[in-house]
Order: sequence, then C-alpha cells, then structure tokens
Amino acid sequence: MAEYDYDVLVIGAGPGGYVAAIRAAQLGLKTACAESRDTLGGTCLNVGCIPSKAMLHASEYFDAASNGSMADMGIEVSPKLNLDTMHGQRRDAVEGLTKGVAFLFKKNKIDWKNGHATFQDAHTVKIGEETVTAKNVVIATGSSVTPLPNVEVDNAKGVVVDSTGALELPKVPQKMVVIGGGVIGLELGSVWRRLGAEVTVVEFLDQLLPGMDGDVRKEAGKIFKKQGMELKLSHKVTGCSVKGKKATLTVEPAQGGDAETIEADCVLVSIGRRPNTDGLGLDAIGLKTNERGQIETDHEFRTAVDGVWAIGDVIPGPMLAHKAEDEGIAVAENIAGQTGIVNHDVIPSVVYTWPEIAGVGLTEEQAKERGEVKVGKFPMMANSRAKTNHEPDGFVKVIADAETDRVLGVWCIASVAGTMIAQAAQAMEFGATSEDIAYTCHAHPTHSEAVKEAAMAVQGKPIHI
Ligand code: FAD
Ligand code: NAI
Repeated sequence: MAEYDYDVLVIGAGPGGYVAAIRAAQLGLKTACAESRDTLGGTCLNVGCIPSKAMLHASEYFDAASNGSMADMGIEVSPKLNLDTMHGQRRDAVEGLTKGVAFLFKKNKIDWKNGHATFQDAHTVKIGEETVTAKNVVIATGSSVTPLPNVEVDNAKGVVVDSTGALELPKVPQKMVVIGGGVIGLELGSVWRRLGAEVTVVEFLDQLLPGMDGDVRKEAGKIFKKQGMELKLSHKVTGCSVKGKKATLTVEPAQGGDAETIEADCVLVSIGRRPNTDGLGLDAIGLKTNERGQIETDHEFRTAVDGVWAIGDVIPGPMLAHKAEDEGIAVAENIAGQTGIVNHDVIPSVVYTWPEIAGVGLTEEQAKERGEVKVGKFPMMANSRAKTNHEPDGFVKVIADAETDRVLGVWCIASVAGTMIAQAAQAMEFGATSEDIAYTCHAHPTHSEAVKEAAMAVQGKPIHI
C-alpha cells in the first residue's frame, strides 16, 4: 500500500493552485486539490481578474457610446444602460471559466476536495470532515482584502464595499468614494465612473499606483483627472459612519491637518490585500509567517518545512495571477524532480483601465539607483495607429543600461498596453538590448511600433518624433 494517499495535495484552487495541480498530474503525480469555495479558479476567476475585466470591457463600450468618442467616428447612438444584462454577462464569463477548470481537473484526474484545509502535520491535512495524506503539500491559499480600521465593509448592504461588493452593485451609485488609488481602485472606480457615478479617489501617497514608474504615475493622474475622476492625493480616510444608504467619511491630509467630511452612497475600500493563512494550521507544522504575514520560500518554492511548498499571493512578490500560475508550473516541476524556475525580475503588471497602463522590470527610479541608464520615450500621439484610432494618450518608455544597452524596464500607457508589454517581457527574458528591439521589424500600423520607436529613442534616433 502507498505510504500516502497522494503524491501532491494542493491547498487552494486559484491560478497558482489549479495550475500546480494540473502540471503535477501531467507529470504523472497522483494529485488532489482542496478548495473551500464551491467553484474552482480562486480569487482571479470568481471575484478578481475575470469579473472585473467583464465589467471593464462592457463599461468601456458604454463610455465610448456616451462620451462622444463613437460619435467622433460617425456612429451616433444614445446608449441605455441595462445593468442586469451587464452583470449577467459577467456572471456567464465567471461560470464558463470556473467550469472550464473543473473540466480540466476531470481530464487530468485530479481529485477536488471541497472544504477548508487545515494541517494536522506536514503530510496530513484535514479537509472538512475528511483527512488526506500527501507526500508533498503545496500552499496556494492566496490573499484577501486588507481591512481599514474604522471603515467596516458590508457587501450585502452595498454602501461600504470591497472589490467583491463593487463588482456586483445592483445600481450605479451617484457618488462613489474609492479609498486607495491602486490597481483595484482605478479599475473598479473606472467601471462605475463610465456608467455614470461621480468618483473621488482618496489616496494616501502623493501619486496613484505605487510601485510603478514615476512618469507613468504622473501621467496616469492627469489622464484619470481628465476623464472626470476627482483625485484627493496625500489624504487618508480616518472614519466612516453609515446611515441608511449614505456614508459619511472623515478625510484628513496624510501628514495631519484639518479633517473634512465627504458624503457618498458607495465607498470602495481598496487599500491592498493580505495573505490567507488563518485557520490553515501553520502552528501544527511549525511554519512561521514573515512580518507581512507571507510564507517565505526558497527559489524552488520550498518552505522551511520539509515536504511543504508555497506559491502565489501567499508568498512574497507581486500579487498577480500570472505570477501565481508560473509559480504553480515551477513548483510542480520541482516536486517531480525537474527544474522549475520563475524569473521574478520579469513579471509584467497591467492596469486594465482606459488607456491601459503596463510595465515590466525596473522603474526609471530603481534603475538609476543601480547605475547609469539611458531612457527613450515615444508618445502614443505620434504612433500612426493610436492617432488613427483617436487614442492619443500615453507613451512608451524604454530604460536601458547606459554601458551594456541591456533593457532594464519598459513602461507603457496605451489603449493596448497590456498586449504590448508581452513583447517587452519576452525581449527582457532573452536579455535583449534596446538596439535589438529597435532593429526588430514591427508590423505597421500597430501600437507596438511605439515600443520600437521608444527603443530607437534610447539610441537617440526615433523616426517619428
Ligand atoms: P487565489 O486566487 O486567492 O486562490 C486561493 C484559493 O484558496 C481561494 O479560492 C480560497 O478560497 C482558497 N483557500 C484559501 N485558504 C484555504 C484553505 N485553508 N482551504 C481550502 N481552500 C483555501 N491579477 C492579475 O494578474 N490580473 C488581473 O487583472 C487581476 N485582477 C484582479 C481584480 C480583483 C478585483 C482582485 C481582487 C484581484 C485581481 N488580481 C489580478 C489578483 C489575482 O486575483 C491574484 O493575484 C491571484 O488570484 C492569486 O492567485 P492564488 O492562486 O495565489 O490565490
Ligand atoms: P494596491 O496595493 O494596488 O493599492 C492600494 C492603494 O491604497 C495604495 O496606493 C496605497 O497607498 C493606498 N492606501 C493604503 N492605505 C490607505 C489609506 N488608509 N487611505 C488612502 N489610501 C491608502 O492594492 P489594491 O488596489 O487593493 O489591489 C490589491 C492587489 O490586487 C494589487 O496589489 C494587485 O496585485 C492585485 N490586482 C491586480 C490587478 C491587475 O493586475 N490588473 C487588478 C486588481 C488587483
């Protein structure tokens, strides 16, 4: 009889966990996956990437029809919002994709154990009423919303909500206040602004989107303001009272000073996410989390406890689905005795607003801290396709090492920046120089030509500016 029930038990079926389970099964390992939700796919498919993109995509069409940009192209329409239908297509997208993961589990003969998993020891995990043993356990429990003291989220009531509540609002708020000008605040704030809400973003720092390149952050601020979002930078929310369907927020300058109040009929709390380790029984296996609540691993995704591995949002690094997925593949390959590697220096990040905002590698500020750099910038205004499509906002910026010309970072604001950044990531993965990009033939007319031109600008020789 086998010593363990499974070769691999994955805890959590988000993009980290479900991908790890599939790759482990592909490699011939007997695999189970514990997931407490009733559907597979984790945060990303159920309440994150997918439903938010469904709302962003649909609201983008509504905005284009209402704000005159379709009329500018000769399409005159008077759009009428059917929010129920919009929510319906969001739910359909989620259902289709989560069922798709269930199909892939069946196809790969992965046992899905539906329940909350708790370690008994390093190889024994209780899942609901069942106890399962496994030679290897992968922790892929993801993250959840960071709460804000004095601001209590109640998604059912719909006045003070987190991202999950903000995806499902049954009616367009008149006045929405977003606490936190990061990725979630800007994406979901954009959805409701496009659908008619007056949106104010309260951000603690002096610019939006911490972690991104300085130029990008400044430009993003200008663009969102131009679109009608009110930005209260360098401010913090210190209190919130709710009466009926109205919230009153107390807002103060970040560095202290006179408080003011802002009324809203919807408040979105989006000040970050924190790793999920509660109720996991880490004590039972003697595994400690770091000061940020994350589980530390080595570069093979082994934790400090033999046979226990960890990936995704629960470990350090950007909280992104594609990072979790790549770690899922790598951890399974490492468990199978292969060499699974993730290059954490080249993980693109994308904000799916209009225009999109994307980057990979170092910001200009980070690169300059490490040494001399050369920077090339190209405005989307001078890109023939963006100009033709009435998409003048944004730019591409390529940052290269001054001595070796190796590309250190690429940043874009453009309607399709999320797609454009893939070529930059690939170039960086191959150790490309800016000259390599500048001398690569790019199809015309495409937005991606702006990446080539920004690389040419690093050489001091762009053609179209
Ligand atoms: P998760 O997806 O969080 O999955 C973990 C799973 O583990 C959950 O289903 C949870 O129920 C389960 N679980 C936890 N503890 C236990 C336990 N003890 N027992 C059993 N099951 C357990 N990222 C992007 O890259 N692109 C985007 O566009 C994007 N959009 C987002 C939009 C929103 C609104 C949000 C909230 C997030 C978004 N993200 C996006 C982030 C992305 O969702 C996460 O980075 C990603 O889901 C992390 O994957 P994971 O597998 O580590 O964890
Ligand atoms: P975030 O970390 O992106 O932004 C949080 C913002 O809140 C920061 O700008 C921070 O300065 C600010 N803040 C913190 N405390 C505050 C306070 N008291 N008052 C005012 N502002 C305050 O976190 P967010 O937007 O909640 O997203 C969480 C994670 O989800 C992100 O880190 C991202 O990795 C992931 N995500 C990714 C998406 C994508 O890839 N497109 C989309 C949505 C989420």
